[in-house]
Amino acid sequence: MKAISAAQQSERIPLVDLKAQYRVLAPEMQKAIAEVLETQNFIYGPAVERFEKEFASYIGVRHCVALHSGTAALWLMLWASGVGPGDEVITTPLTFFATVEGILLCGAKPVFVDVDPRTLNMDASSVERALSPRSKALLPVHLYGQPADMEALRAVAERRGLILFEDAAQAAGSLYRGLKAGSLSRAASFSFYPGKNLGAYGDAGAVLTDDAELAARVRRLSNHGSERKNYHERLGFNVRPSSIQAAVLSVKLRYLEQWNERRRALAESYRRLLGGLPGLSWIEESAHSRSNYHLFVVRHSRRDALLEHLRGQGIEADIHYPVAAHLQPACGSARLPAGSLPHAEKAVGEILSLPLFPEMTQIQLEKVGRAVAGFCRRA
Ligand SMILES: Cc1ncc(COP(=O)(O)O)c(C=O)c1O
Repeated sequence: MKAISAAQQSERIPLVDLKAQYRVLAPEMQKAIAEVLETQNFIYGPAVERFEKEFASYIGVRHCVALHSGTAALWLMLWASGVGPGDEVITTPLTFFATVEGILLCGAKPVFVDVDPRTLNMDASSVERALSPRSKALLPVHLYGQPADMEALRAVAERRGLILFEDAAQAAGSLYRGLKAGSLSRAASFSFYPGKNLGAYGDAGAVLTDDAELAARVRRLSNHGSERKNYHERLGFNVRPSSIQAAVLSVKLRYLEQWNERRRALAESYRRLLGGLPGLSWIEESAHSRSNYHLFVVRHSRRDALLEHLRGQGIEADIHYPVAAHLQPACGSARLPAGSLPHAEKAVGEILSLPLFPEMTQIQLEKVGRAVAGFCRRA
């Protein structure tokens, strides 16, 4: 990789600029965190209760159970729903590996189906072929913030008696047929990892559901399987939420809609700037979804060279994700041979996430656009 000059360094464009966001939020954040410090209530407490109410109401479901991370949310959502050893969960190979970890941690087997090459979301039309008598649930991921084809997935789930879940980690504020991602299934998991559209100042996550019993089970499992201190009816774990993170998230939730709007406007600017460039395409938005543009992802057959070109100009593009989940050694016996899921495997060699964050300026976006155009015209 070429060295970056000092001048180029100073014009560095990050994938996400959390410092720029903090500069705007600092007074509100410091006040919110100071309030938690005053209570000295660091786990659960009023800040967590408040965020749970606010986020459930924002998503449009009855219950939000705040947890330590999105990974914990996936794991407990499945575990509390009865997914366990001997069960198969149909999911997508294009995701952050935590989706698969959630299934494996329950002792169940992830069964991968290929993606729709236009959206890179799980291809609902491939699901039937992947079903077996052990199939228990469908776990689509709203990749890059774009909701999966939930209507088609719900139809399969209803026909075959499967539980439909959502990994909505990337989709805070996204819409599908006018409804919020996270309200479209039995239960949804969210991640509030700092770089997410709604990001905490550390790890955090949540399970969202209309099912009161399921919510209560998730809560119990997250707190050592206990409802009453020192009494443990069931085995659980400790993935309880942090009050400071909940307070941070309550502040940020007030801005989420405007941030997502800005991301959509920036995505539109990218499409205008990049339209018609030889060899370049991007992930399409399907008719019924309104993405929160967690990521703006382009495709190019010489992706690695494009990435090197951009990094050489101080532009921190990145790859989400460079290895399809079904090829990861950690899948163990659920791992599939290379060539099994051709759309996903082709995509991982071509996808590139360009910088996109609400505070991004038009000047920054145009710099990225010029750099991408320069590469495509010479490639
Ligand atoms: C699709 C997806 N699922 C699950 C997770 C896991 O969330 P966390 O990092 O909060 O554990 C993430 C985020 O990193 C994600 O992008």
